[in-house]
Amino acid sequence: MNIKTIGVEDWLNVHEKSATVDIAQSTIASLTQDEILSLDDGDPAAFYEQFGREKMNYGWIEGSPAFKERVAGLYRTVHPDNVLQTNGATGANLLAVMALVQPGDHVVAEYPTYQPLYELPRALGAQVDYWQIHEELDWNPDIDELRALVTPHTALICINNASNPTGTVLPRETLEQIAEIADSVGAYVLSDEVYLPLDDTCDYTSMADLYDRAVVTNSLSKTYSVPGIRMGWTASNAEVADKIRVLRDYTLICGGVFNDAMAVHVLDHRDRILARNQRIIAENRAIVEAWLAGEPHASWVAPRGVSTSYLRLDIPVDDEAFCLDLLERFGVLLVPGSRFELPRGARLGYCAPKETLHRGLELLSQALRQFD
Ligand SMILES: Cc1ncc(COP(=O)(O)O)c(C=O)c1O
Repeated sequence: MNIKTIGVEDWLNVHEKSATVDIAQSTIASLTQDEILSLDDGDPAAFYEQFGREKMNYGWIEGSPAFKERVAGLYRTVHPDNVLQTNGATGANLLAVMALVQPGDHVVAEYPTYQPLYELPRALGAQVDYWQIHEELDWNPDIDELRALVTPHTALICINNASNPTGTVLPRETLEQIAEIADSVGAYVLSDEVYLPLDDTCDYTSMADLYDRAVVTNSLSKTYSVPGIRMGWTASNAEVADKIRVLRDYTLICGGVFNDAMAVHVLDHRDRILARNQRIIAENRAIVEAWLAGEPHASWVAPRGVSTSYLRLDIPVDDEAFCLDLLERFGVLLVPGSRFELPRGARLGYCAPKETLHRGLELLSQALRQFD
């Protein structure tokens, strides 16, 4: 299989361990194991004591019944049988695309956004057309352009809602229009929903609840602050779930007994984690807004309750060269916008711990002073 490097992952793999001030990540300040296991006000030691008696066999192959029920409960219309545990949303996207795309298929993908949503279909032999996002539409795509791109041969439409890196949340009305367009040609919709908007004013709905031929991918890595347990899932109709079952046996078998137990614990205390993260998002967003008010070389379309954001940088040099210089001289890590095909800017992961965010923005301003 010929497949391109994922620009953002390649950048992070090379640079994230050398950064002293990391404001590049899209996860909302990751939780420690102790924090996770104290969510019920219990003693983490009790979890380990009980867990010490668990056999390290393969466990539940598709995810435990508790996991599948908790995940199905996040949607109005998804049956637990059609929830399948995966190796993060990374694994979920791979399995979904493998299940839905044949060589020669026509695929339309929102662009630019999370790269696997178009590189995977292309690597599997699909002809991929891009549904562009537009800065003048606050990084939304235009639904009429989707209408023009979809043909009777379109097998799949891929979207990232909310979107990495811009944080754009597609409104319910747009999702309904996507569903109607997909339905008109019998296409599936793959909706990567790892960034759940934590803003009450967002008109957010999962595609799973709007369209029977939707395959939704998600994980505990971003909004739930637990990327380290690598727990994701696909939610779909029964037909696609059966296809993914076959593919899971080749790629995964199971997600692991320990990871599953942690995932159930996280989902059982979802409300607490989301309340914590809603606070972080609101407070950190205010920090960035205040910083932007005094920083002439940066601007953003403020993300609505989503942990990832795109900073437009008004600088006369290449964004990758600038980000490298920022890292080498100040230890600050951003992701150059070019890594997302969005040059002249950078991804800002503003849901880092507050001191890190303050320090990172202060140093970023120091670096930007050279362009005054
Ligand atoms: C949109 C999107 N989907 C999926 C993933 C992969 O997430 P996971 O850690 O659950 O594999 C990422 C990671 O950055 C992402 O941004």
